[in-house]
This record gives sequence, structure tokens and C-alpha cells, in this order.
Amino acid sequence: MGLSRLVMPLSSEPLRLGFSWQRQRRWKKKALFVVSAFALMASVKALAAGNDDGLNAQRVGSGNPVAGKEKSEAGRCQECHGIDGISSDAKIPNHAGQYADYLVKQLRDFQSGERSHATMSIMAEDLSATDMADIAAYFASLPIMPGSGAAENPWASNLFKNGDLARGIPACRSCHGDKGKGRLADSVVYPLIGGQRAVYLRSQLVNWKLGSRTNSPHGIMNTIAKTLGDDEISVLADYLSGL
Ligand code: HEC
Ligand code: HEC
Repeated sequence: MGLSRLVMPLSSEPLRLGFSWQRQRRWKKKALFVVSAFALMASVKALAAGNDDGLNAQRVGSGNPVAGKEKSEAGRCQECHGIDGISSDAKIPNHAGQYADYLVKQLRDFQSGERSHATMSIMAEDLSATDMADIAAYFASLPIMPGSGAAENPWASNLFKNGDLARGIPACRSCHGDKGKGRLADSVVYPLIGGQRAVYLRSQLVNWKLGSRTNSPHGIMNTIAKTLGDDEISVLADYLSGL
């Protein structure tokens, strides 16, 4: 596409360098502007034709995945989240097959400050509603993140499937779906967590527990994570990433 030439090369270990995202804002805006011209010409059918497995309208939402592919390259999202939606670093979440509406909600929350993260708050800053929908549609249209197949752990598996009613912990499965592959119900999007990166999952559960992430509806994830012990968070994260 030649668009990659607009993008300055970045180290394969971006988080460890003192890379200034601040200074990159101007060219990022320019790149997205150029891409929106391509978006007008792109057709959803072009991508859908080559990728029927796992693609469903609900998951992909209202955006244009073809435009989203270009935008997520020009906007540098792929450098961290992967061209295939599988991240390059254990601290960075996979997006492959994640519900587009969930991804869009997170981007809006980063933009408004409802959720904050040093890098992502800047990355989301300039995205328009259309950019968000398109980029989210692209990642949602990719084959769903596969679990590592690792940890069958009876303790974690029991918490996931049955919760612990005596302590008021609902089953994760009741919201996040069988195998943690997510679901949509009553206009709430329950994100896919099965097959997600373990280090990322652990950090989010700790953030919910400590209250440094508070953007779930009615604070539901804060309530749940507060009742989990640190060891439970650890085994759940490993178990979920295996699903
Ligand atoms: C330098 C690496 C980096 C780049 C570039 C980057 N991200 Fe991220 N992204 C992250 C990290 C790290 C997190 C996890 C934030 C946290 O721990 O709360 C994240 C989280 C997210 C989330 C929340 C996912 C979830 O499961 O809740 C979304 C959505 C997202 N990024 C989209 C994007 C988009 C769109 C772009 C491009 C405009 C982008 N990211 C560029 C590193 C990056
Ligand atoms: C009552 C429904 C409900 C239950 C039960 C539930 N969750 Fe959640 N969870 C949610 C919702 C909704 C979100 C998305 C919040 C948002 O919009 O940011 C979420 C988000 C998460 C995330 C963040 C995902 C990401 O990509 O950042 C993790 C991790 C998570 N839940 C783990 C769990 C675990 C582990 C359990 C069981 C101990 C559990 N959840 C039980 C509703 C639920």
C-alpha cells in the first residue's frame, strides 16, 4: 500500500524504550487522514470474501474491516497488537476476534479518561468514531485468539464455571461465555477473555481489585475482583489464557 512509508520504524520492544508518543501525534493524524481516502473506496465485501471463518455481523459491528486494516497499520496499532490481532508482548492484549463494540467502548473510555493507560490514552486521543469502529471491525473479523491450551487447573476451572456463591462470586462463565469466548446480551458486551494473554489478564484483575480500572457497568468487575485473593487471580489468569 505504500502507507507504511508514512510510519517511522519502531523498535520491536516499544514499551522498554523512552519513545515519545507525544511527538508522534502530528504524523499520526496525517496518516489517518490519508487512510480515510482509502476507506471511502474500500468495500467490506472484499475482506469478508477471503475470511468467512468466525466472521459474524454481531462480532464485527458497524465498522468497515478493510478500512480498519489500513487505519490500524497507519495508526501503528498493529505494531503492538499484531497484524493478526495477536500481541507482540505479554502485557499487551490480543484483539483477534474480540467484540468490536467492546473494543470501541474501551477506546472511548481511554479518550474520555474513564479508563487510563499512559500509552493507550495517547493512542486513542485522535481517533474519530469512524476510525474506532473500522479498526475494531478489523480486529474483530480476525480468527478468534486461540488459547495456549496449557492450564487445566481444577481450582480455577471451578471458579470460572461455578463461582463461589458463599463468598458472593458469580461464575465468570455466566457473563464471559463458555470457554470465555465472550457474548452479547441485553446490549451489554461481555468481552472475550479465553485465550487472552495471562500477564494482561492478571494486570486487569489487579486493576479492578485495586480500583485503578473502574469502567465496567455498575462497577461489576470491581465488586467481583475485590473478593478474589491474589492467588485466585493468578490461577484464573493462567487458566483463562489457556482456554
Ligand atoms: C506501544 C504499544 C501499543 C500501541 C502502539 C497501541 N496499543 Fe493498544 N494497548 C497497549 C497496551 C499495553 C494495552 C493494555 C492497557 C492496560 O493495561 O490497561 C492496550 C490496550 C488496548 C485496548 C483495550 C483492550 C482490552 O481488551 O480491554 C484497545 C481497544 C487498544 N489497545 C486499541 C489500540 C488501537 C486502536 C491502537 C492504535 C490506534 C493501539 N491500541 C495502539 C499497547 C499499545
Ligand atoms: C455479571 C457479569 C460478569 C461476571 C460474572 C464476570 N465478568 Fe468480567 N467483565 C464483565 C464486563 C461487562 C466486562 C467489560 C467491562 C468494560 O466494559 O470495560 C468485564 C471485563 C473483564 C476483564 C477485562 C477484559 C479485558 O480485555 O480487559 C477481565 C479480565 C474479566 N472481566 C475477568 C472476569 C473473571 C475472571 C470473572 C470471574 C471471577 C468475571 N470476569 C466475571 C462482566 C462480568
